[in-house]
Amino acid sequence: MSSTAGGPRRRRPARRTLPLGEVYGLLEPGPVVLLGTARSGVPNLMAMSWHTMLEFEPPLVGCVVSERNHSHAALKATRQAVINVPTVELAGAVVGCGNCSGREVRKFETFGLKPVPAAEVDVPLVGECFASLECRVVDTSRVRRYGLFVLEVVAAWADPGRKNPRTLHHRGWGEFMVAGRTLRLPSHMR
Ligand SMILES: Cc1cc2nc3c(=O)[nH]c(=O)nc-3n(C[C@H](O)[C@H](O)[C@H](O)COP(=O)(O)O)c2cc1C
Repeated sequence: MSSTAGGPRRRRPARRTLPLGEVYGLLEPGPVVLLGTARSGVPNLMAMSWHTMLEFEPPLVGCVVSERNHSHAALKATRQAVINVPTVELAGAVVGCGNCSGREVRKFETFGLKPVPAAEVDVPLVGECFASLECRVVDTSRVRRYGLFVLEVVAAWADPGRKNPRTLHHRGWGEFMVAGRTLRLPSHMR
């Protein structure tokens, strides 16, 4: 702040109109995940950042999956999926899975990821991810309008050795934030 004879002059915050197409990067959701599906025994993965928790228990997760994606048809047909949570070490594989389609590419092989059998669904987990959530599709009522599938988590796996996982968060247009410090503060949310 600078001072003049007329008193302190406040510097206006440097604001600009934000194109509406960039809003989602402000309200960025949780970590970018690898959504696994499988059709006729062929597993596939896509990067997904548009997801949100809807219920604590049983855990329900809303996932927006565009109908342009191969994964959309697989979710509709099989009603099964695995949400895998990667950390920054897997960033290359994550963007790789988000920039090609399972119609042409076998992504586990192409990106050197290890398929691990799941307990409750016929979709493999990604062995390198620190957490994996086996899911069933329980609501498709908003799929036509928004591509929004509601998934129920029926089994969950996490590596207990990873206390501070450095997850990736998409800010739009190829920009990612990496989760860092953990703070402990009072909160009424669980
Ligand atoms: C960081 C990142 C986040 C993405 N998030 C989503 C998403 O939330 N929903 C979606 O439909 N596509 C999303 N995509 C695009 C899909 O991952 C991409 O279209 C992918 O090629 C689909 O693969 P598939 O055709 O094998 O299903 C994202 C891509 C990237 C790189």
